[in-house]
Amino acid sequence: MGRPLFRLAEFKAGDVVFVSGAAGAVGSIVGQLARLHGAAAVIGSAGTPDKVRWLTEELGFTSAFDYHDGPVAKQLAQAAPDGIDVYFDNVGGEHLEAAIGAFNEFGRGALCGAISAYNATEPPPGPRNMSLMVGRKLSLRGFIVGDHYDMRDEFIEKVTPLVTSGELVVRETVREGLDQAAATFIDLLRGGNTGKMVVKLADDV
Ligand SMILES: NC(=O)c1ccc[n+]([C@@H]2O[C@H](COP(=O)([O-])OP(=O)(O)OC[C@H]3O[C@@H](n4cnc5c(N)ncnc54)[C@H](OP(=O)(O)O)[C@@H]3O)[C@@H](O)[C@H]2O)c1
Repeated sequence: MGRPLFRLAEFKAGDVVFVSGAAGAVGSIVGQLARLHGAAAVIGSAGTPDKVRWLTEELGFTSAFDYHDGPVAKQLAQAAPDGIDVYFDNVGGEHLEAAIGAFNEFGRGALCGAISAYNATEPPPGPRNMSLMVGRKLSLRGFIVGDHYDMRDEFIEKVTPLVTSGELVVRETVREGLDQAAATFIDLLRGGNTGKMVVKLADDV
Protein backbone atom coordinates (compact mmCIF):
# COMPACT_ATOMS: atom_id res chain seq x y z
CA MET A 1 0.00 0.00 0.00
CA GLY A 2 3.03 2.24 0.09
CA ARG A 3 3.32 1.83 -3.67
CA PRO A 4 0.58 4.30 -4.65
CA LEU A 5 2.39 6.83 -2.48
CA PHE A 6 5.32 6.67 -4.87
CA ARG A 7 3.65 5.81 -8.17
CA LEU A 8 0.41 7.80 -8.04
CA ALA A 9 1.16 10.62 -5.64
CA GLU A 10 4.71 10.89 -6.98
CA PHE A 11 6.06 11.30 -3.46
CA LYS A 12 9.62 12.58 -3.23
CA ALA A 13 11.96 13.44 -0.40
CA GLY A 14 11.21 16.84 1.06
CA ASP A 15 7.45 16.60 0.56
CA VAL A 16 5.06 17.39 3.39
CA VAL A 17 2.68 14.42 3.56
CA PHE A 18 -0.78 14.13 5.13
CA VAL A 19 -2.28 10.67 5.75
CA SER A 20 -5.85 10.12 6.93
CA GLY A 21 -6.88 6.89 8.62
CA ALA A 22 -3.28 7.03 9.73
CA ALA A 23 -3.49 4.48 12.55
CA GLY A 24 -5.06 1.84 10.33
CA ALA A 25 -3.46 -0.95 8.34
CA VAL A 26 -2.85 1.10 5.22
CA GLY A 27 -2.29 4.52 6.74
CA SER A 28 0.23 3.42 9.35
CA ILE A 29 2.47 1.88 6.68
CA VAL A 30 2.11 4.76 4.24
CA GLY A 31 3.08 7.34 6.85
CA GLN A 32 6.12 5.37 7.94
CA LEU A 33 7.30 4.80 4.36
CA ALA A 34 7.03 8.52 3.72
CA ARG A 35 9.13 9.21 6.81
CA LEU A 36 11.71 6.56 5.93
CA HIS A 37 12.02 8.05 2.43
CA GLY A 38 12.75 11.56 3.55
CA ALA A 39 9.45 13.38 3.92
CA ALA A 40 9.92 16.85 5.34
CA ALA A 41 6.98 16.13 7.63
CA VAL A 42 4.36 13.41 8.00
CA ILE A 43 1.03 14.41 9.51
CA GLY A 44 -1.59 11.86 10.46
CA SER A 45 -5.20 11.99 11.52
CA ALA A 46 -6.91 9.31 13.55
CA GLY A 47 -9.93 8.81 15.74
CA THR A 48 -8.68 8.44 19.33
CA PRO A 49 -6.04 10.04 21.58
CA ASP A 50 -4.29 6.66 21.95
CA LYS A 51 -3.97 6.33 18.19
CA VAL A 52 -2.64 9.88 17.91
CA ARG A 53 -0.03 9.10 20.57
CA TRP A 54 0.96 5.87 18.81
CA LEU A 55 1.53 7.75 15.56
CA THR A 56 3.86 10.34 17.04
CA GLU A 57 5.54 8.35 19.81
CA GLU A 58 6.05 5.00 18.10
CA LEU A 59 5.71 5.44 14.35
CA GLY A 60 7.66 8.67 14.01
CA PHE A 61 4.92 10.84 12.52
CA THR A 62 5.90 14.48 12.85
CA SER A 63 2.48 15.33 14.22
CA ALA A 64 -0.99 13.88 14.45
CA PHE A 65 -4.45 14.95 15.48
CA ASP A 66 -7.78 13.44 16.46
CA TYR A 67 -10.33 14.44 13.84
CA HIS A 68 -13.02 14.49 16.54
CA ASP A 69 -11.27 17.42 18.25
CA GLY A 70 -12.34 20.06 15.71
CA PRO A 71 -12.63 20.84 12.02
CA VAL A 72 -10.07 18.86 10.03
CA ALA A 73 -9.12 21.91 7.94
CA LYS A 74 -8.30 23.89 11.06
CA GLN A 75 -6.26 21.10 12.67
CA LEU A 76 -4.43 20.43 9.41
CA ALA A 77 -3.60 24.12 8.98
CA GLN A 78 -2.07 24.11 12.47
CA ALA A 79 -0.06 20.97 11.76
CA ALA A 80 1.08 22.13 8.31
CA PRO A 81 1.19 25.93 8.32
CA ASP A 82 3.15 25.97 5.04
CA GLY A 83 0.78 23.56 3.31
CA ILE A 84 1.02 19.95 2.16
CA ASP A 85 2.45 18.42 -1.00
CA VAL A 86 0.98 14.91 -0.82
CA TYR A 87 -2.27 13.57 0.60
CA PHE A 88 -2.99 9.86 1.04
CA ASP A 89 -6.75 9.56 1.44
CA ASN A 90 -8.31 6.64 3.29
CA VAL A 91 -11.32 8.61 4.48
CA GLY A 92 -12.81 11.02 1.91
CA GLY A 93 -15.39 13.63 2.92
CA GLU A 94 -14.21 16.37 5.24
CA HIS A 95 -10.62 15.08 5.19
CA LEU A 96 -10.44 15.28 1.40
CA GLU A 97 -11.84 18.79 1.36
CA ALA A 98 -9.34 19.85 4.03
CA ALA A 99 -6.46 18.37 2.05
CA ILE A 100 -7.51 20.15 -1.15
CA GLY A 101 -7.60 23.38 0.84
CA ALA A 102 -4.13 22.75 2.30
CA PHE A 103 -2.37 21.69 -0.90
CA ASN A 104 0.58 23.67 -2.19
CA GLU A 105 0.95 24.19 -5.94
CA PHE A 106 1.28 20.87 -7.77
CA GLY A 107 -0.06 18.95 -4.77
CA ARG A 108 -0.82 15.27 -5.42
CA GLY A 109 -3.41 13.03 -3.81
CA ALA A 110 -3.66 9.23 -3.91
CA LEU A 111 -7.28 8.28 -3.23
CA CYS A 112 -7.32 4.88 -1.55
CA GLY A 113 -10.67 4.84 0.24
CA ALA A 114 -13.55 6.93 1.53
CA ILE A 115 -14.52 5.14 4.72
CA SER A 116 -16.32 8.17 6.14
CA ALA A 117 -19.01 7.64 3.50
CA TYR A 118 -19.35 3.85 3.47
CA ASN A 119 -22.40 3.87 5.74
CA ALA A 120 -23.97 7.02 4.31
CA THR A 121 -27.65 6.61 3.54
CA GLU A 122 -27.54 9.40 0.97
CA PRO A 123 -24.72 10.42 -1.38
CA PRO A 124 -22.58 12.83 0.64
CA PRO A 125 -21.77 16.19 -0.93
CA GLY A 126 -18.42 16.27 -2.68
CA PRO A 127 -15.58 18.55 -1.64
CA ARG A 128 -16.81 22.13 -2.03
CA ASN A 129 -13.43 23.49 -3.04
CA MET A 130 -12.62 21.54 -6.21
CA SER A 131 -12.07 24.79 -8.08
CA LEU A 132 -8.79 25.17 -6.16
CA MET A 133 -7.47 22.30 -8.27
CA VAL A 134 -7.19 24.58 -11.29
CA GLY A 135 -5.12 27.45 -9.93
CA ARG A 136 -2.96 25.23 -7.75
CA LYS A 137 -2.52 22.68 -10.53
CA LEU A 138 -3.44 19.75 -8.29
CA SER A 139 -3.91 16.11 -9.19
CA LEU A 140 -5.99 13.48 -7.44
CA ARG A 141 -5.85 9.84 -8.54
CA GLY A 142 -7.85 6.91 -7.31
CA PHE A 143 -6.47 3.40 -7.46
CA ILE A 144 -7.16 -0.24 -6.71
CA VAL A 145 -4.26 -2.12 -5.24
CA GLY A 146 -4.74 -5.09 -7.58
CA ASP A 147 -3.77 -2.92 -10.54
CA HIS A 148 -0.27 -2.56 -9.14
CA TYR A 149 0.83 -6.14 -8.59
CA ASP A 150 3.74 -5.51 -10.95
CA MET A 151 5.38 -3.76 -7.98
CA ARG A 152 4.69 -6.60 -5.55
CA ASP A 153 8.10 -8.26 -5.77
CA GLU A 154 9.88 -4.92 -5.34
CA PHE A 155 7.65 -4.13 -2.37
CA ILE A 156 8.45 -7.44 -0.65
CA GLU A 157 12.15 -7.09 -1.37
CA LYS A 158 12.36 -3.56 0.02
CA VAL A 159 9.85 -3.69 2.87
CA THR A 160 10.65 -7.10 4.39
CA PRO A 161 14.03 -5.97 5.76
CA LEU A 162 12.45 -2.84 7.18
CA VAL A 163 9.94 -4.96 9.10
CA THR A 164 12.57 -7.45 10.21
CA SER A 165 14.86 -4.71 11.49
CA GLY A 166 12.03 -2.94 13.29
CA GLU A 167 12.42 0.24 11.26
CA LEU A 168 8.87 -0.25 10.03
CA VAL A 169 6.40 -0.96 12.82
CA VAL A 170 3.58 -3.34 11.94
CA ARG A 171 0.73 -3.78 14.39
CA GLU A 172 -2.31 -6.06 14.32
CA THR A 173 -5.57 -6.06 16.24
CA VAL A 174 -6.51 -9.73 16.45
CA ARG A 175 -9.93 -11.24 17.13
CA GLU A 176 -10.29 -14.97 17.64
CA GLY A 177 -12.59 -17.20 15.59
CA LEU A 178 -14.54 -17.09 12.38
CA ASP A 179 -17.76 -16.52 14.32
CA GLN A 180 -16.34 -13.10 15.23
CA ALA A 181 -15.90 -12.07 11.59
CA ALA A 182 -19.07 -10.01 11.17
CA ALA A 183 -18.73 -8.23 14.52
CA THR A 184 -15.06 -7.59 13.79
CA PHE A 185 -15.86 -6.02 10.44
CA ILE A 186 -18.40 -3.71 12.08
CA ASP A 187 -15.82 -2.84 14.71
CA LEU A 188 -13.30 -2.00 11.98
CA LEU A 189 -15.75 0.49 10.51
CA ARG A 190 -16.07 2.03 13.96
CA GLY A 191 -12.33 2.32 14.49
CA GLY A 192 -11.91 -0.62 16.87
CA ASN A 193 -8.57 -1.52 15.32
CA THR A 194 -5.09 -0.11 15.50
CA GLY A 195 -3.03 -1.35 12.57
CA LYS A 196 -4.39 -4.30 10.64
CA MET A 197 -7.65 -5.86 11.83
CA VAL A 198 -7.26 -9.63 11.69
CA VAL A 199 -9.67 -12.48 12.40
CA LYS A 200 -7.63 -15.46 13.52
CA LEU A 201 -9.16 -18.78 12.59
CA ALA A 202 -9.03 -21.62 15.08
CA ASP A 203 -5.87 -23.69 14.73
CA ASP A 204 -7.81 -26.76 13.58
CA VAL A 205 -9.68 -25.02 10.72
N1 LIG B 1 -7.97 1.12 -3.08
C1 LIG B 1 -7.71 -0.10 -2.66
O1 LIG B 1 -7.28 -0.98 -3.41
C2 LIG B 1 -7.95 -0.43 -1.21
C3 LIG B 1 -7.53 -1.65 -0.64
C4 LIG B 1 -7.73 -1.86 0.73
C5 LIG B 1 -8.36 -0.89 1.50
N2 LIG B 1 -8.78 0.27 0.90
C6 LIG B 1 -9.39 1.36 1.67
O2 LIG B 1 -8.35 1.92 2.40
C7 LIG B 1 -8.84 2.46 3.62
C8 LIG B 1 -8.08 1.86 4.80
O3 LIG B 1 -8.30 0.46 4.79
P1 LIG B 1 -7.67 -0.45 5.94
O4 LIG B 1 -7.95 -1.84 5.57
O5 LIG B 1 -6.28 -0.02 6.19
O6 LIG B 1 -8.59 -0.08 7.16
P2 LIG B 1 -8.12 0.57 8.54
O7 LIG B 1 -7.65 1.94 8.22
O8 LIG B 1 -7.20 -0.38 9.22
O9 LIG B 1 -9.48 0.59 9.35
C9 LIG B 1 -10.48 1.47 9.05
C10 LIG B 1 -10.33 2.74 9.92
O10 LIG B 1 -11.13 3.78 9.38
C11 LIG B 1 -11.32 4.74 10.39
N3 LIG B 1 -12.63 5.37 10.24
C12 LIG B 1 -13.85 4.82 10.36
N4 LIG B 1 -14.82 5.74 10.15
C13 LIG B 1 -14.17 6.91 9.91
C14 LIG B 1 -14.62 8.24 9.63
N5 LIG B 1 -15.93 8.54 9.55
N6 LIG B 1 -13.69 9.20 9.44
C15 LIG B 1 -12.37 8.91 9.52
N7 LIG B 1 -11.89 7.67 9.76
C16 LIG B 1 -12.78 6.68 9.96
C17 LIG B 1 -11.21 4.01 11.73
O11 LIG B 1 -10.12 4.55 12.47
P3 LIG B 1 -10.27 5.86 13.40
O12 LIG B 1 -10.33 5.37 14.80
O13 LIG B 1 -9.06 6.63 13.06
O14 LIG B 1 -11.56 6.55 12.99
C18 LIG B 1 -10.86 2.57 11.34
O15 LIG B 1 -9.90 1.98 12.18
C19 LIG B 1 -10.33 2.15 3.64
O16 LIG B 1 -11.04 3.27 3.14
C20 LIG B 1 -10.44 0.97 2.68
O17 LIG B 1 -11.72 0.87 2.10
C21 LIG B 1 -8.57 0.50 -0.43
